[in-house]
Amino acid sequence: MADTDNIQEAERYHLDIPVKNEPFALKGSNSLDWGMKNRLSNIFDPVSSRTVMLAVDHGYFMGPTTGLERIDVSIVPLLPYADTLMCTRGILRSTIPPTFNKGVVLRASGGPSILKELSNEQIAVDMEDAVRLNVAAAAVQVFVGGEFETQSIHNMTRLVDMGNRYGVPVLGVTAVGREMVRDAKYMRLATRICAELGASYVKTYYVEEGFESVAASCPVPIVIAGGKKLPELDALKMAYNAIQQGASGVDMGRNIFQSEAPTAMIQAVRKVVHKDMKPEVAFELYQELK
Ligand code: R5P
Repeated sequence: MADTDNIQEAERYHLDIPVKNEPFALKGSNSLDWGMKNRLSNIFDPVSSRTVMLAVDHGYFMGPTTGLERIDVSIVPLLPYADTLMCTRGILRSTIPPTFNKGVVLRASGGPSILKELSNEQIAVDMEDAVRLNVAAAAVQVFVGGEFETQSIHNMTRLVDMGNRYGVPVLGVTAVGREMVRDAKYMRLATRICAELGASYVKTYYVEEGFESVAASCPVPIVIAGGKKLPELDALKMAYNAIQQGASGVDMGRNIFQSEAPTAMIQAVRKVVHKDMKPEVAFELYQELK
């Protein structure tokens, strides 16, 4: 039975303090439900509204990629420096300690290997399993202009419907096929399609010319993939330029885990993303930490 003896009269109503109704700072996300916002806050730092996602999902079509041969050895030590980890459910269950309590963005599409037509993906995770894994978002590859364009977009819209049911945001990942031109015009098209069709945020590639217009025309946050391994200073410059031109973060893999000093590199990237540190200064930091 509840203890109802000696109940004190409630009187701390703070009548002089109006109830706050603060907008949710993340771009285009103010109308989302509480669960979505809560999960997005586990990806994007609530102070900077930016994120450093550590992407290690490459094995889902490439197998044991350089730097990811032993995720337990090479990636787990980096986890304290990431805002979010992007990985497959196989790696999550087998290798990532369940004490990792930041956001996990779960790779949720797949099918073909590098030996086949990559755009021929299907949904590879049931949303209930994503919820069981307590993920912050599900990620799906979208191949605008690819051979299986419609199928990949349909994968995304189905995941968005399921995600909306459970309060799980969907990251639309714009894939660039070998035959596609990586310019601002293409990135605007691909990112906007993802956002229009319901992605909570979108991953794309940085382009030297006109990236501001890519970020401006996408109504939800954009994060950039790191892409192929660059010299550390160049990767930091790319991250800096993307952030200054409207990106809300990076989803960086090879430029961190294939670096000569991954722990130093991810810390330098964090400064660029969250503190607007100039790339040359961040590179000095990288060298010191290395
Ligand atoms: C593609 O394999 C994945 O979506 C990666 O997560 C993405 O490309 C980011 O990794 P990277 O920075 O190595 O391009």
